[in-house]
Parts: sequence; structure tokens; C-alpha cells
Amino acid sequence: MRLLFFGPPGAGKGTQAKMVAKEFDIVHISTGDILRDAVSKGTELGKKAKAIMDRGELVSDEIMNNLVKEKLQELDSFILDGYPRTLDQAKFLDGATKDLKKEIDAAVLIDVSEEEIVKRISNRRVCPNCGKVYNLITLKPKEDEKCDVCGTKLIQRDDDKEEVVRERYKVYKKNTEPVIEYYRKNNKIITIDGAQNVEDVTKELFNILRSFNK
Ligand code: AP5
Repeated sequence: MRLLFFGPPGAGKGTQAKMVAKEFDIVHISTGDILRDAVSKGTELGKKAKAIMDRGELVSDEIMNNLVKEKLQELDSFILDGYPRTLDQAKFLDGATKDLKKEIDAAVLIDVSEEEIVKRISNRRVCPNCGKVYNLITLKPKEDEKCDVCGTKLIQRDDDKEEVVRERYKVYKKNTEPVIEYYRKNNKIITIDGAQNVEDVTKELFNILRSFNK
């Protein structure tokens, strides 16, 4: 199965993509995670991306397209989470998947309002060691602000400040909503109400994808 995950910042794309990847045994590719990993390792890519991400803006299409194409060459089934985010990226992906004969089966849109997002993101904490994502209200760590898996102290992402989250939301409306319309025209969009709790979103997604996977 080859899937795209769309939704505003903090909609729950990463949370759900990890569960779908595990359940259906497919690889989860998060372009945000790849960039954050590059930033923390101080690579050339990380140095270019850091300031852009901290402002809530988008890294260039050229960089993102090359990065994703390299990944797709190695994989047969995958979830792309956070890509494509612009029409240029969507057109590039179309060409690449056609060339590689790995066309996309469906694009999942997790829909959530701006106010809910700001609330969720201000309570998001992540483990800098293993990447597990928590929420101080909805997905609490067992021990105060420490990772359940590896015990590392949880941190807040640099781009999770309210003013940056609102900027990311604006960028999403301007650049990524037209991409969703592009896939809607091709009948690829599956819309899920992301305002439900995590378990209900997962249940709905699994049911849809199981019927898809037959
Ligand atoms: P990226 O990491 O992709 O950020 P994003 O799209 O803004 O999404 P998030 O990771 O913030 O949220 P999410 O939807 O995964 O939510 P999560 O599951 O964590 O990108 C970051 C930056 O990288 C971009 O701004 C850009 O600069 C750059 N970039 C990346 N890709 C790019 C591209 N293709 N082109 C150009 N630039 C690119 O959940 C959020 C919180 O809510 C968590 O605390 C979670 O526990 C909680 N939660 C989840 N679901 C629920 C629920 N149903 N109910 C209650 N709480 C919930």
C-alpha cells in the first residue's frame, strides 16, 4: 500500500502514520522527522533547514523532492507524512511514482480546526532520543515529562511556539490545501475527522484501509 498523509500541523499525522505503518507493515517516511534528524546531527541539510523550520516556513521544493525520490527508490510500500506540501512537490511526486511504477493508492486527510491544533501543539512533548511523541493532556507520559520507552527527558519542538504554529497553519492553508484539491480531483482523498480521540481516529483509519488492502 502507498499512502500520503495530509492535515494541518498537529492534526495527528505522525501519531496515526506510526500506527498504520505498524499494523500494515509499511514504512513511515516523515519529511519533518528527516529534517529534524539532520538538524540535530548538524549536517549540511540540517544547517540549511533549521532557520526555515523555526520560522514555520517551507524548505525548498528542490531539496525536498530529491530527498523523497531517493527514499522511494528503495521502497515498495510506504506512507509519506508531510510531503507533498506544494503543487510543485505534488507534480514531481506524480512523475517520480509513474517512472518508478509505484503509484499512490490513497491520500488520507486528517482534518482539525486551528484552535484545536494550537491547544494540542502547546502540550506536545517529544523524546529527543527515540522520537516518541506525547501530549501532556491526551497522551501523557507515565512519569513526569520522561519518555516511557527510554527514560530520556522530554522536550518541546523549537517550532511549537504559538506564533510559529499559527504561521505554519497559514502556510498550510496557502500551499498545501491546493495540493489536497489536486488529489481530490483524482478521487484519492479519504477524509477523517481528526477532532475525535486518538483511538477513534485509528479505528476509523484501520477500517477504511483494511477494505482498501483486500
Ligand atoms: P512536520 O514535522 O511535517 O510538521 P507538521 O506538518 O506541521 O506536523 P506536526 O509534526 O507538527 O504534527 P502531526 O500532524 O504529525 O501531529 P502529531 O501526531 O505530532 O514539518 C515540520 C517542518 O519541516 C515544516 O514546518 C517545514 O519547515 C519542514 N518540512 C517538512 N516537510 C516539508 C516539505 N515537504 N516541504 C517543505 N518543508 C517541509 O500530534 C500533535 C500533538 O497532538 C501530539 O502531542 C499528539 O500526542 C496529540 N494528538 C494527536 N492526535 C490527537 C487526537 N486525535 N486527539 C488529541 N490529541 C492528539
